[in-house]
Amino acid sequence: MYNNCCFVMADKIRAVKERSFPHTVEGIKQFYDEWAPTYVKDLTHEGYTAPRRAAETMAKLLSNKHTEIMDMACGTGLVAHELTQVGFNTIDGVDISTESLTISQERGIYRRLICDHIGANELDIKDDSYDGLILCGALGSGHLNLECFPELIRIVKPSGPIIFSVSCKTRDTFDQFKDGNFEADLDELVRKGLWVKEAYELIPDWIFNEAGHQYVYKVV
Ligand SMILES: C[S@@+](CC[C@H](N)C(=O)[O-])C[C@H]1O[C@@H](n2cnc3c(N)ncnc32)[C@H](O)[C@@H]1O
Repeated sequence: MYNNCCFVMADKIRAVKERSFPHTVEGIKQFYDEWAPTYVKDLTHEGYTAPRRAAETMAKLLSNKHTEIMDMACGTGLVAHELTQVGFNTIDGVDISTESLTISQERGIYRRLICDHIGANELDIKDDSYDGLILCGALGSGHLNLECFPELIRIVKPSGPIIFSVSCKTRDTFDQFKDGNFEADLDELVRKGLWVKEAYELIPDWIFNEAGHQYVYKVV
């Protein structure tokens, strides 16, 4: 049993490092369902600092800690845990992986958890519901792409921050993101008047001791 767990862990970490995870919605759901039981332990071991960085950034932007925060693609709840460490206490989450959501539920942190696909589709959430939103570690091939942003903007209140981050490797190698496509798509939403750019930070130790890009946009 112990050995099986180690094989699952080694498999999943290797798949993430080599980008050899499934590249379909169904495949990615199964990938995270299988990984859910050891995900937190595995990624903590791999120096995954991105959730803490995002939560700390949110804390600097929103002084009222009773505001409502959406943890988009929440997985097993690492971001929500970090949000509670900086004082937030009203957090909802969305994810496609039912097994990950079970672990998030067991944390007893979230007010509401929604199992759904995040993309161009409309989520079961009213307009302007949240004071801030974090999307951490979930952009990439088979995962979320930038088509989801108009929907994320819809559910955040005007002036509310949307904090998201992506590993440098993913931004530089995924076809839809590389060669400036990532920034161009974000800029397009600025041109459409949906949000404005607030901040950008290069995080040197985002995961695996490798760097990641963290962005903050504010909803118009
Ligand atoms: C690397 S994990 C990140 C989880 C969490 N945000 C964290 O930082 O630990 C990626 C998460 O995105 C979810 N996911 C990937 N594609 C998705 C989609 N299209 N819709 C909803 N969830 C998705 C996966 O189920 C998984 O929980």
